[in-house]
Amino acid sequence: MGEPKTVVLTGASSGIGAAAARALVAAGHEVILVGRAPERTTALADELGMRCMLADFEEALSVRDLAARLLEEVPRIDVLALNAGALYAERRRTIDGHERTWQVNLLSPTLLGRMLLPRLRESHGRVVVTSSAVHRTARLVAGDLEGDRSGYSMLRSYGAAKLAGLLVIDEMVRGGRYAEIGFASFHPGYVPSAIWRDSPMLQRLLASQVTRSFWTPPEQAALPLLYLATEAPAEELDGGYWHGLKPRRIRHPQWDDVQLRASLREAVMGFDTAIV
Ligand SMILES: NC(=O)c1ccc[n+]([C@@H]2O[C@H](COP(=O)([O-])OP(=O)(O)OC[C@H]3O[C@@H](n4cnc5c(N)ncnc54)[C@H](OP(=O)(O)O)[C@@H]3O)[C@@H](O)[C@H]2O)c1
Repeated sequence: MGEPKTVVLTGASSGIGAAAARALVAAGHEVILVGRAPERTTALADELGMRCMLADFEEALSVRDLAARLLEEVPRIDVLALNAGALYAERRRTIDGHERTWQVNLLSPTLLGRMLLPRLRESHGRVVVTSSAVHRTARLVAGDLEGDRSGYSMLRSYGAAKLAGLLVIDEMVRGGRYAEIGFASFHPGYVPSAIWRDSPMLQRLLASQVTRSFWTPPEQAALPLLYLATEAPAEELDGGYWHGLKPRRIRHPQWDDVQLRASLREAVMGFDTAIV
C-alpha cells in the first residue's frame, strides 16, 4: 500500500459502500463514512473506529451542510468516492422540486463534488463515482432531462441519471479546469443489495441461485472503488469509465450530443446557483 489516504465515502452505510469502507480501513486508510440512515451509519463507524456524517441527498440543503461540515472538519481530502445511489418504484418530487432519482443520483453528488473541488485540488485528489452499466440503455432528452414529459420507469430514470453522471465527469475533464484532480467512474457488477428494495421482482432474481453466476458479492463489487481511489496510478484517473477492474470505452449514441451536454451543464449548475 502507498501513503494512507483520507477518503470521503458516500453511501457508506450499506452494500458496496460498506464493503468498500471495511476494505479501505483494513488497508490503513482513513474513511469519513457518509450515510443517510443514522443507525446503520453510526454502527459501521463504531465497528471501524471511523468518523461518520449524515446527509439526505433528497435535500440540497442537507448536501450543502454536509459539504460545509467536511470543509470545516477535514483539512485534507484525498478521495471523494461518490457511491450513494437509489432507485424508486414511484416518481416523486423532492422538496427542491426535482424528480428524486435525478436529484439523489446526479444533482446532489455533483453539488457535493463541486463544493469539495477546492479541497481536492489542494491534495491533487481523486473523485471516484459508482456508476452503472444500466446507463447504456438510457436516453436523455435535452429539454426534458428529468423525464417529466414521459411515463415513469424506475430503471429508465436511474439509467438516465447514471448516464448524465458520466457526461458530467467527461465535461469536467474536457473543460480542463480541474487538471490537478483525477476522475474515474465504474460499474461494480450487479449486487443483490438493498438498492433493489423497491423491486421485489429484481430482488428475487438477483438473490436466486439460478442467477448466482450473474451477480457480484459486495466485497468484489467494491474492488474497483478501492483500486481507483487508492492504488491506481494518477494517469489512470483520466475521466474514464471502468467495468469492474477493466477500463471500458463509453459507446453511447448520445455521447457527443452537444445540445444535450449544454442542457445538462445548465441543469447541474442551476441546481444550486449559489455555488460557483
Ligand atoms: N447493486 C447493484 O447491482 C448496483 C449495480 C450498479 C451500480 N450500483 C451503484 O452502486 C452504488 C451503491 O449501491 P448498493 O448496491 O450498495 O446499494 P445500497 O446497499 O442500497 O446502498 C446505497 C447507499 O446509498 C445511500 N443512499 C440512498 N439514498 C440516499 C439519500 N437519499 N441520501 C443519502 N444517501 C442515500 C444509502 O444510505 P442509507 O443506507 O443510509 O439509506 C446507502 O448507503 C449506487 O450508486 C448504485 O447505483 C449498484
